[in-house]
Amino acid sequence: MNHPSPDTRRAERRIALSFGVSMVSGFALLGVYLAGGQTQVEAVLLAISLGGIGAGIIVWSQRLLPNDLHVEPRHPAADPASTAVRDIVAEERAITRRSLLIRALGGAFAGLAAALAIPVLSLGPAPGRSLFQTPWRRGLRMVGLDGQPIKASDVPVGGIVTGFPEGVPGSADGQTLLIRVGPGLLRLAADRMAWAPDGYVAYSKLCTHAGCPVGLYRSVEHRLICPCHQSTFDVLDGAQPVFGPASRPLPQLPIRIEADGTIVALGDFTDTVGPGFWNMHDG
Ligand code: FES
Repeated sequence: MNHPSPDTRRAERRIALSFGVSMVSGFALLGVYLAGGQTQVEAVLLAISLGGIGAGIIVWSQRLLPNDLHVEPRHPAADPASTAVRDIVAEERAITRRSLLIRALGGAFAGLAAALAIPVLSLGPAPGRSLFQTPWRRGLRMVGLDGQPIKASDVPVGGIVTGFPEGVPGSADGQTLLIRVGPGLLRLAADRMAWAPDGYVAYSKLCTHAGCPVGLYRSVEHRLICPCHQSTFDVLDGAQPVFGPASRPLPQLPIRIEADGTIVALGDFTDTVGPGFWNMHDG
């Protein structure tokens, strides 16, 4: 069995040190993150972790792997293995004996894997079905940004107000446009006409193209226009898109008018609010 030369020993120590430093900095990075995080420190530790693995592999390939050009002379097939071949086999066995380096490399990768787990930890809790629901529930009154209930009398014919679910004024996905059109103008599906009493109809304010608030209303044409890319929705026809990049109508909020004039939801929106890609799910 060949004993490694002092030069080889030195190279092995250098490689083990590089991998060890890489492993320690990988786990240190995870520790810094769990302790609250510090971006600059995390970046330095990640650089050391990656650099340690790279340095170790470079030294390994340059100092320990055979770089000589071996030329095996042709010999009869029946001949026993030549001395040159035996030397090569012995050399390869010497490499497989370097289990310390293999373990060190495994440790370095474990540290790096711990460091790479950080983005996964930063993802936070799964959104579940929250992207497909809004705070609107049956019986909730529509309120203004000040939290006060909106009354039907607050909206003249041709008028429009922005409302929110009671208790969640300012809700991003619950923001709703309450529009009042003249009597007999709405052309909604039969089952939706009951959700738009006395010409009051409510639609999600989130554009179905990319989620901008649909803030412009042309009352003469009964069109809602999104200022971002000019998607236009026909208020009388269930907020169907008639122009622009939006391909879905604005979801309708079923409402009724109470005896005291307040607007009350009969449930959540008829469809997922906001951009269309939110709607690409299994149901
Ligand atoms: S976000 Fe409304 S048209 Fe693009």
